[in-house]
Amino acid sequence: MKVFNYVVLCGSFLIMAASCGGGEGDKRPTADDFKMEKKADPKGIGEVKSVELTDPLEESMIKSGKAIYEMKCSACHKLTDQRVVGPGWAGITNNRRPEWIMNMITNVDVMLDEDPEAQKLLEECLTRMPNQGVSIGDARDILEYMRKNDMEKVGSKDEAVSGG
Ligand code: HEC
Repeated sequence: MKVFNYVVLCGSFLIMAASCGGGEGDKRPTADDFKMEKKADPKGIGEVKSVELTDPLEESMIKSGKAIYEMKCSACHKLTDQRVVGPGWAGITNNRRPEWIMNMITNVDVMLDEDPEAQKLLEECLTRMPNQGVSIGDARDILEYMRKNDMEKVGSKDEAVSGG
């Protein structure tokens, strides 16, 4: 008899709890919702909020970007789509917004800790890209060099922006 009462009591509590949250349209977030995979911001995380892309490409920026690439990046990144330590760069401006690319370059530690897309790369590459101490201006030059490289390697660039 006692057990029976207990079951009834618990049962009615459950029904009450369910009916509290059951109203349509007022779904409140629960702790579980915050544990779900974070949605990536296509612009990444960092100081770079918007980048103006100019055409035609700026030769002086390309030259500077190439020099920085050869000095600081080429040990890990190829200009083809071949992965060495990090992913090859061919096609990168078609896949990633310029803001994301520049935030990845200038704010790599936070990106690897918090940006889901950067974390996916880390899972594939199994090496953390080191902070190269690149300024935002230099990152912009590298971006210009990547745009030029994409024209040479895949025949198109900036599709991550023009395609939405
Ligand atoms: C010691 C190796 C290393 C060096 C040097 C390095 N990177 Fe990386 N980079 C990586 C790795 C590894 C990844 C993938 C993410 C991860 O695992 O940290 C990556 C990812 C990236 C990405 C994202 C690639 C994509 O496909 O979306 C960009 C952009 C990038 N690096 C730019 C640079 C630039 C610019 C430099 C030079 C200033 C540089 N990296 C130097 C290892 C390196």
